[in-house]
Amino acid sequence: MIDQKTKERVEELKRQKNAVILAHYYAPREAQELADFVGDSFYLAKIAQKTDARMIVLCGVGFMGESAKILNPEKKVLMPEPAADCPMAHMVAEGKIAEMRARYEDLAVVCYINSTAALKCQSDVCVTSSNAVKIVRALPNRNIFFIPDRNLGRFVAEQVPEKSIILNDGCCPVHADIDPVQLAELKRAHPDAVVLAHPECECAVLAHADYIGSTAELIAFARTSPADSFIVCTEDGVEFQLKCDSPDKNFYFPKRRPCCPDMKRNTAAGVLHVLETEKNEIEVAQEVQQGALRPLEKMLELAGS
Ligand code: 13P
Ligand code: SF4
Repeated sequence: MIDQKTKERVEELKRQKNAVILAHYYAPREAQELADFVGDSFYLAKIAQKTDARMIVLCGVGFMGESAKILNPEKKVLMPEPAADCPMAHMVAEGKIAEMRARYEDLAVVCYINSTAALKCQSDVCVTSSNAVKIVRALPNRNIFFIPDRNLGRFVAEQVPEKSIILNDGCCPVHADIDPVQLAELKRAHPDAVVLAHPECECAVLAHADYIGSTAELIAFARTSPADSFIVCTEDGVEFQLKCDSPDKNFYFPKRRPCCPDMKRNTAAGVLHVLETEKNEIEVAQEVQQGALRPLEKMLELAGS
């Protein structure tokens, strides 16, 4: 919970500076409570592209701030904690994309939005976990190099068997750490609970899932499902929205709670600090901005924003 004084000061600064606050579902509750828009990566990219605000405060990790800036280069994009970074965003070996392009003539490089701007520049289209299947299916290319997440890539490959999907050995350390043994124990303790999982989980976890989707899709599924108990295999920041939507439903997380330390760096104090000082501005070099804008815009076009 945030104190009333912080809330009022943030509101006042937002009005004065024509700022909007965006937060990912994995950000701490205090950031979600201050935000004007809370959502998954795809939703945040769409809002960042459309907003009329002069300034965007992004409570997320580096690639989200970068994407907001790339989609809206004339706006000021600030992050409460500039060191909040997604380790997976960097997990493509140097030279790997060029090697794959040389090997396959018709290759499309499909880049999960959880990636650096430099990797986006070398890619044909970006995807998020909520639109990856739709976009890969729509591409004319048969050979797809899916970067950086091997788990989302494998999930897409299962849904789109007509494509030949080459996986890259990157993963989200938070989702990869979800233990299938702990999940099996939870299932034994709550045999009627519906298992929800994010596609960034390893296949041993996804094998137990009743429903697989992006954070927004998992939250929507729980809200509309007639079930009253759920085992949740994704980062625990989603619990706040799950409970807001369905206070009477039960949500169980694995014993070793999936928690992204970088997302958790987005504090209310940090939001207030950047609104007051306008520090921690995201900068993207012009050629990188232009190179990364192309695959991001292609995603928005193919996903039907
Ligand atoms: P979504 O926002 O697409 O659900 O992805 C989750 C994630 O890992 C963001 O960092
Ligand atoms: Fe990156 Fe995983 Fe954290 Fe998302 S949850 S920001 S993919 S490390």
